[in-house]
Amino acid sequence: MIIAVDGPTASGKGTIAKGLALHFGLPHLDTGLLYRAVGRQVQLNGGDPDQSVDALAATGFAESLLADPELRSEETGGLASRVSIHPAVREALYERQRRFAMQPGGAVLDGRDIGTVIAPEAEVKLFVTASVEARARRRYLEMRDLGRAVTQAEIEDDLRRRDRRDTTRATAPLTAAADARVIDTSSLDRHEAFASALAAVEEALDRSPPA
Ligand code: C5P
Repeated sequence: MIIAVDGPTASGKGTIAKGLALHFGLPHLDTGLLYRAVGRQVQLNGGDPDQSVDALAATGFAESLLADPELRSEETGGLASRVSIHPAVREALYERQRRFAMQPGGAVLDGRDIGTVIAPEAEVKLFVTASVEARARRRYLEMRDLGRAVTQAEIEDDLRRRDRRDTTRATAPLTAAADARVIDTSSLDRHEAFASALAAVEEALDRSPPA
């Protein structure tokens, strides 16, 4: 079974995807981490994230980079959003994500285009979203716990900028697949969000024709 979990930054999709993977005993891939690694590698190379050649060269990042704590920073998130615009970068990362999705037994993947591009045949598609204010608040509390000096207003501005870039890009823009179940986590805590996602998955499985 493939479960595709898409949605904007800080919507809670990562927590939901991890929880579903654990619940169903499936491997999980956070595809945002791949784009973050490309963004970080461009920076390490001294390249320009807005230049397709520089971003493409960075897709050859070393596997060890995926464990770099810097990948979780807001700065790297911004770089990831810039490199992810280039079709050549998306193509370079496609095969790896596709292979992960198609492994025997299935998988859970979270990102922006899993249900639309990477695994359009996924049995279950969730689109996890929340208001920009709720997402900024969550991200702010996370960053504060990590000791990072940012204000909630700065995070909110940054999220709006990234949402605009993610939803308006020509290739694989962030959008809910026509057959995705939408989960709005604005007023849900992480337990409620997971319960609501699990209920949506079970409903989707009940309705899907037997394989
Ligand atoms: O989900 P996360 O915030 O880690 O993703 C970072 C950036 O990577 C996003 O803003 C988005 O631009 C890009 N991304 C993407 N496609 C994916 C996953 C992430 O374009 N499947």
